[in-house]
Amino acid sequence: MPVKVVIGLQWGDEGKGKVVDQLVHDWADVCVRYQGGANAGHTIYNEIGTKFVTHALPSGILKSSCKNIITTGCVINPITLFKEIDLFNVTYQNLYISSGCPLILPHHILLDKLKYQKKIGTTAKGIGPAYADYIARDNKTIGDLCVNLEDLRIYVYDQLQILSTSNKYSKEYFDSVFQEYLKENEFEITDLKTFIASYLDKLESLSLFYRDFVSNTSQLLQSLYWMNKKILIEGAQGWGLDVWGSSYPNVTSSSPNIGGVLTSTGLNHQQIDEVIGIVKLYKSKVGEGEHSTQEHFERNVAKRIEEVRSSLGEFGATTGRPRRLGWLNLDEITEACQTNGVNRIVITRLDSINDIIKKDNHFCVYSNADYQDHLAWLSMDHFERDDAFLNQHALLSFIDNVKKITKVDNISVSYGPRRNQLKW
Ligand code: IMP
Repeated sequence: MPVKVVIGLQWGDEGKGKVVDQLVHDWADVCVRYQGGANAGHTIYNEIGTKFVTHALPSGILKSSCKNIITTGCVINPITLFKEIDLFNVTYQNLYISSGCPLILPHHILLDKLKYQKKIGTTAKGIGPAYADYIARDNKTIGDLCVNLEDLRIYVYDQLQILSTSNKYSKEYFDSVFQEYLKENEFEITDLKTFIASYLDKLESLSLFYRDFVSNTSQLLQSLYWMNKKILIEGAQGWGLDVWGSSYPNVTSSSPNIGGVLTSTGLNHQQIDEVIGIVKLYKSKVGEGEHSTQEHFERNVAKRIEEVRSSLGEFGATTGRPRRLGWLNLDEITEACQTNGVNRIVITRLDSINDIIKKDNHFCVYSNADYQDHLAWLSMDHFERDDAFLNQHALLSFIDNVKKITKVDNISVSYGPRRNQLKW
């Protein structure tokens, strides 16, 4: 049963991309994206190791023998996805999009900017409003773009009219947000009326374009499964951002958890043989909301916080915002493993221990279950970025503690950006 799911067990940005990249390279025939939209940034490498970043496309897109599938639980901005498809020279032989994927339309992005960007620190890509309209059974899908174009055009027109005349936002505020949207999307237009006309025209060419890519991806995946193809399923965000999770409302609007895989892909739970949970050695978060270990981390790292953030490169891949950093909390990871049925953990960024502990030479991991005072200091010597450090006693005992606390026996480690710096 060759189906593997890769789930980030924190708030996204755990380093899933590295693990997915390796599995794509060495193993997968099929790569599936099951939730989110262009709010994520995934780093992938081509055959000769050149780096690329995708936002909505699955990570197998550079491997010509890999079928890439975007399933129903993903939201699609037809304009930005078109640009990504163009950039990567994608053909319909290696990209399949579920006809049921909800669309992200201009009014969704404008509303995200007008209301939610400030409120909960969203990526302002229109993700939440697009899912909200879908759940209210009031959105359109990419299937509609292909076959119900006239309905879609009326919908887009009406929604923009409603939003632009809403008395919830002053005219000045709406105009400034609208101008920002036009600039970001490289529209050389300045007034709403001309924009609507030009957008509706654009939908016509997009309708033709997407016809070749759209299909019933649940049926496709079932048939690939029964052909014994190796299927890799990747999320865009992490479990901590799940809309049904405890961080609500500071979450994304979809389900990165295992439940999201089932509803989106049409595969069932018995068809999944491995759930790989990705855990970064420390926590990072963009956007608002509780962050249990941030204060203690910042207090400890004190004046070096900006230096640490820079050397770790902890800035949002989509928005460039600085990420809030904190220590790893193994109780949260345990809950994530139990909820998602994780049977392998990959701990990423082990090498970054050097960047964090520089002077004081200690590193902190929180756990209520096993450590006194709810936290432990792992005293470690500075590690070299090579295999030697994998045998160091402190690291091995740390991994033992992770096994004991999470009750997951298979632990893998990633300790550098290169493909060979990952020990399964
Ligand atoms: P949205 O997904 O743009 O609606 O944003 C909702 C919340 O999820 C915000 O706190 C974002 O910063 C966060 N978020 C969305 N995508 C990612 C991601 O790929 N990595 C980390 N945080 C994300």
